Amino acid sequence: MAKDIFSAIKVSDHVWWVGAVDWNIRDFHGYSTDQGSTYNAYLILADKVTLVDTVKASFKDELLARISSVIDPRKIDYIISNHAEPDHAGCLAEVAAVVQPEKIFASKMGVKNLKAHFHQDLNLVPVASGEELSLGNLTVQFLETRMLHWPDSMFTYLVDEGILFTSDAFGMHLAGSARFDDEVDHWEYEAAKYYANILLPYSGLVTKLLDQVDQMALPIKVLAPDHGFIWREDLQRIQSLYRRWAKQAPTNKVIVTYDSMWGSTAKMATAIMEGLRAGGAVIKVMDLKVSHRSDVVTELLEAGGLIVGSSTLNNGILPRVADFLTYLRGLRPKNLLTLAFGSYGWSGESVGKIEEELSGMGLAPVDEGIKSLFVPDQDVLGACFDAGKGFAARLQQTINEGEELA
Ligand code: FEO
Repeated sequence: MAKDIFSAIKVSDHVWWVGAVDWNIRDFHGYSTDQGSTYNAYLILADKVTLVDTVKASFKDELLARISSVIDPRKIDYIISNHAEPDHAGCLAEVAAVVQPEKIFASKMGVKNLKAHFHQDLNLVPVASGEELSLGNLTVQFLETRMLHWPDSMFTYLVDEGILFTSDAFGMHLAGSARFDDEVDHWEYEAAKYYANILLPYSGLVTKLLDQVDQMALPIKVLAPDHGFIWREDLQRIQSLYRRWAKQAPTNKVIVTYDSMWGSTAKMATAIMEGLRAGGAVIKVMDLKVSHRSDVVTELLEAGGLIVGSSTLNNGILPRVADFLTYLRGLRPKNLLTLAFGSYGWSGESVGKIEEELSGMGLAPVDEGIKSLFVPDQDVLGACFDAGKGFAARLQQTINEGEELA
């Protein structure tokens, strides 16, 4: 008899992890997932057997195999869909066809969004914040988390075991054999990358949600997100990082990012970087030819300055810089001092275009941008150095004034 290679992993007395590990995903709607990801789903073995979330459609068989390692999937009574995005609900209709659940629970917006994905009758039942659902011997409670990060997003709390199923919150794209926080040493970059690329635009809501969860005083023993590992040892660490990231408080770290046509803008970036260093800033230089947009925004999460450069190409900016600025605008960053620079041959629009883009994000540059006609000479490189040094001083002053005001 063939042995199934997939097994469920026990999380608590009644809960099993039955998700999937995606070792090979490298792009998540524009976010580079260099470490792969996981799609976590959870099985609650209560009187009413309940599946919390499913997985990306291509991993449906892995999900069903893991469930089968502890129970016949047809014994599942309920499915709870915390989030309608296809990495968690992509195989919902196919799984429902196998399982034939009595009901599928989702937030009101979740019901609407799942209907718009599947266009079939899935016996969806809307639930609201504060509502409880009896699973017979156990109880779950729902907490809507609208726009964290879709309108349908919600948390589900297993009251009896103190397990909060947090959908995308507190997750990260990180494939691996570890399922729990105490089994992983190096995770902070991936958690920050997840926050910067997915949750940053909703930072105000993150703070409110953390406050709300604190006020509810739920005895939370486990945070079970839909990506990455499960928090069972140090739950406070990730929550305090979320509070810090949500503030976007400026630091003296400056990101210099650019693309260069023939190396002149790159020379300017080096001179600016040396000026920043002389001014005492912490620096990260990221050439967009080799640095992915999603890594640049990750570095920006705990920065205080952003300096953007591009050569002029066809009266505009280089495509990689345009790509980065478009991506950044959607993430609505705050509390960054900015500056633009770039080389040109005759018309020289790139610096103005970058300034326009940054101003459109509410990040108007602190000084006039620096331009170089073709290859920068010593005067231009000196101006770049001085601009970097001045920028570092301005940033430090801003931070100090902020500290005095606090
Ligand atoms: Fe992991 Fe918003 O989906």
